[in-house]
Amino acid sequence: MRIIFLGPPGAGKGTQAQFICQDRNIPQISTGDMLRHAITQQTRLGLEAQEIMARGELVSDDVILGLVRERLRQPDCELGCLFDGFPRTVGQADGLKEASISVDVVFELQLSDELIVRRISGRRVHEESGRIYHIEFNPPRVDNLDDVTWQPLIQRHDDSEAVVRARVEVYREQTAPLVDYYKNSAVRYFEVDGNATVDEIRSSIRKLLIVVEA
Ligand code: AP5
Repeated sequence: MRIIFLGPPGAGKGTQAQFICQDRNIPQISTGDMLRHAITQQTRLGLEAQEIMARGELVSDDVILGLVRERLRQPDCELGCLFDGFPRTVGQADGLKEASISVDVVFELQLSDELIVRRISGRRVHEESGRIYHIEFNPPRVDNLDDVTWQPLIQRHDDSEAVVRARVEVYREQTAPLVDYYKNSAVRYFEVDGNATVDEIRSSIRKLLIVVEA
């Protein structure tokens, strides 16, 4: 099964993707994580993406589609995958279709504007594993340390309030058109209330996936 998680910054795509991928033993394809990895490695792509991401803008469709197509060639994608934060433009969704990469279900995680900034400003991540915490909603056991490795947590460079507002704007202009794109397609589409608790959302998505498989 190929699953898409669509939603604004902070909607909980990454948080829920980690649970669902573990449940189903499928890889999480997060284009954001792939770009951050390229930045850490200081590859040419990383150097190009760094400034774009720091402004909250989108990396070009060609670059993203190239990355995703290459990732999908890996054997762990044979039984499916979960796209977290991809596609993000109609061009990227068309690119999937043109490459005959079918999608089974889209979950749109919806989040109120007030919560977006609160979620993002409190987010802390363990860089190496991608584990996600929140200082208020999902704090680590020890302040600012990862629960598993005890290494320090970081705040993402694009999580400042000004950049988050730019990312939300970009979401509305370039990504939100995918709502109608997929609603008007043959792909199963579910809206999920991202304002609910992590456990409630996880349980809704699990139930909906059972419906999709039936
Ligand atoms: P990306 O990394 O994809 O960022 P995003 O889409 O803006 O989403 P976030 O990671 O900010 O939020 P999320 O929904 O995953 O929330 P999370 O689970 O962490 O992209 C970053 C940048 O890369 C883009 O701006 C762009 O430049 C570039 N890029 C990436 N993909 C691209 C593409 N396809 N095309 C072009 N450019 C691309 O949760 C947020 C916080 O809330 C956490 O602290 C979490 O603990 C907490 N939380 C989660 N759920 C709940 C809950 N239910 N209740 C309380 N707290 C919760």
